[in-house]
Amino acid sequence: MGHEQLPTEEPAVVTCGLPYANGDLHVGHLRSYVAGDLFARALRRIGQQTAFVCGSDMHGTPVAVNAAEQGVDPEEFALEWHDQYRERFPQFNIAFDNYGHTHDETNTELTRDFVASWIDNDHVFEKGIKVAYDPEADQWLPDRYVEGTCPYCGEKARGDECDEGCQRHLEPGEVEDPVSVRTGNPAEYRRREHKFLRLSDFQEYLQGFIHRLEGTERARQQPREWIEGELEDLCITRDMDWGINYPGENGEAEELVLYVWVDAPIEYVASTKQYSERVGADTYDWTEVWQFDGERRHGTEWPESWADDGGEIIHLIGPDIIQHHTVFWPAMLRAAGYNEPRAVLATGFVGIDGKSLSTSRNRAIWAKEYLDEGFHPDLFRYYTTTGSGLERDVDFSWDRFAERVNSELVGTLGNFCYRALLFAARNYDGTPDADVSEEIRGHIEDAVETFETAVREYDIRTIGQVAVDLAGLGNEYIQRNEPWNLVDDDPERAAQVIRDCVQLTRACAVLMQPVMPEKAQRLWEHVGESGDVSELPVEAALDAPAAAFGEPDELFEQVAEGTIEALNAELRDRVAAASEGENAEAADETDGTPALDPVETDRIGFEQFQEFDMRVAEILTAEPIEGADDLVRLEVDIGVERRQVVAGIRQLHDVESLPGTRVVLLANMETAELFGVESNGMVLAAGEEADLLTTHGDAPLGSRIR
Ligand code: MSP
Ligand code: ZN
Repeated sequence: MGHEQLPTEEPAVVTCGLPYANGDLHVGHLRSYVAGDLFARALRRIGQQTAFVCGSDMHGTPVAVNAAEQGVDPEEFALEWHDQYRERFPQFNIAFDNYGHTHDETNTELTRDFVASWIDNDHVFEKGIKVAYDPEADQWLPDRYVEGTCPYCGEKARGDECDEGCQRHLEPGEVEDPVSVRTGNPAEYRRREHKFLRLSDFQEYLQGFIHRLEGTERARQQPREWIEGELEDLCITRDMDWGINYPGENGEAEELVLYVWVDAPIEYVASTKQYSERVGADTYDWTEVWQFDGERRHGTEWPESWADDGGEIIHLIGPDIIQHHTVFWPAMLRAAGYNEPRAVLATGFVGIDGKSLSTSRNRAIWAKEYLDEGFHPDLFRYYTTTGSGLERDVDFSWDRFAERVNSELVGTLGNFCYRALLFAARNYDGTPDADVSEEIRGHIEDAVETFETAVREYDIRTIGQVAVDLAGLGNEYIQRNEPWNLVDDDPERAAQVIRDCVQLTRACAVLMQPVMPEKAQRLWEHVGESGDVSELPVEAALDAPAAAFGEPDELFEQVAEGTIEALNAELRDRVAAASEGENAEAADETDGTPALDPVETDRIGFEQFQEFDMRVAEILTAEPIEGADDLVRLEVDIGVERRQVVAGIRQLHDVESLPGTRVVLLANMETAELFGVESNGMVLAAGEEADLLTTHGDAPLGSRIR
């Protein structure tokens, strides 16, 4: 049962994963907010009524732990970050129609309402479970207050998530060898009564849901395993003060608060409701989106055709919270009689240098830092949405950023529009009197279609790329037709070529609006328009341009090499400091054994392996190299020939004892000159101590390693 094609007659809501109000935002967070903003704008361009909402996630241990560390009240702490985010998002042109928070009245009421309705519908039960407890500090240790080992994959995990390993959500009592995060005390498990949402009531429903769900591959595939297997019930209460109280009757369970993942996604609904109340239900009615034609349904009263009832709910999230959005959340909605998500789009992780971002270790590029460099927000938006497919894990790189800004935005888009408009302004005071050619009209029609299809397929990257691709075509067109040579010889043809180029520029402004809204508006004004480009449908790319406009200025500026060098240097230091901290910590944990890198996740093929020509060799002579503390010059016999190689093993080995040692040589290593000595191959060794690789039996010299 498929969904009706977008745009539909129903209103849509696009949401982004709520940021925990507990610290600075970094480029990893921004990736999903920019993608959400781009998508909401793009949906509107194809004619879908859309609200874009979000809010701060104020509750839970992520906030409580950090507030406690600073010795401040969690509410005050969270509100401060909330205020900061509210200012930060617009600085990246992320324009939420409503940005609330989970501690506000709308959400508190709605959350109680949801839970009350789960209770009414008999989906909640009580159960005694083991909960981590710090006997010395006399404190319960919910979620992030406790750390231990993941029972599924054996990695280090937090109380409620295996954040460094398999990414699973963990229920209270699951994490093994629990230790208190605050005191370092070993925790013990004590029995406690808690409330549960019976997820098993929704197993069959979820199996249907996951087939209807649209969005990105990972978000649709990853939950299947969970939904097909036995669903564990979800503990919805915690032993904490900070949060929304469990809405029990007659003081029942009144010392418990709701688990943060209960009230957090409900903020999606609450934030839509606030928007609706502000603009009026005539303009946008939240009940049409979240409820079925404005009705909540209970019991068996469910529409035959699920997909076509209610509005279009589209969630944009990072990769770590897929389970929450594709398993828990749809069950929570259904249990309260609400509509289900139409699509979930998950971004890939953003890391640096192959490692994940770490807020606490300052291994990150911060939102504020980007802005402080004076870079325009639209450049980041373009870079982060179009560098790879949405779901790919990526490393943030200043080099790539600069490269893409300079070649694609300055070199292609900026350059084309500038040339076209300058020529038009100087020679015709605006748009020349001619018709658009078939060729160019065709290209623009194709671009519009590409855009529309990309929106329907949730293909964020293509939506972000289409204007630059069109400008690339424009550059090629202008180069091929050389209008500057035509003005005198064939003025009619010149006018037509420039008319085409102005049309292409206008189309670029319309098509680039979702990804670079501010730059799009400027370009719009450059082509002589005064209105708001964000209000036009994407077909406006084909409308006739304004008759008159003046000379444009440059839309983009080059990123200077020096700026990037400085940023790289700063980042290198930061990453090194973070890794040092980590290595020291890992060494502590393993009693002095150095930390080991995880195995590379990028696999290589056999063919690639065969490119390494590694041979069994024997060291014939060895002597120190003058002036170089750790280098030795070796002569090695590799059966087929003798080689001179330089190896950095002098301080780790007794040089005189090296001759006669069997080693393995990478024989097709590029030659290099070190301290004036040519090195023709590389001796393989393991670890910091340069433990030389050798053979175990008596493979003849020159044998290849396979
Ligand atoms: N508060 C929860 C979400 C609740 S949604 C009902 C949360 N907060 S968060 O602050 O940790 O993350 C906010 C958003 O940023 C989430 O969508 C998360 O997946 C995303 N990301 C945070 N770090 C990220 C990367 N390093 N890379 C990609 N996305 C990242 O989770
Ligand atoms: Zn795990």
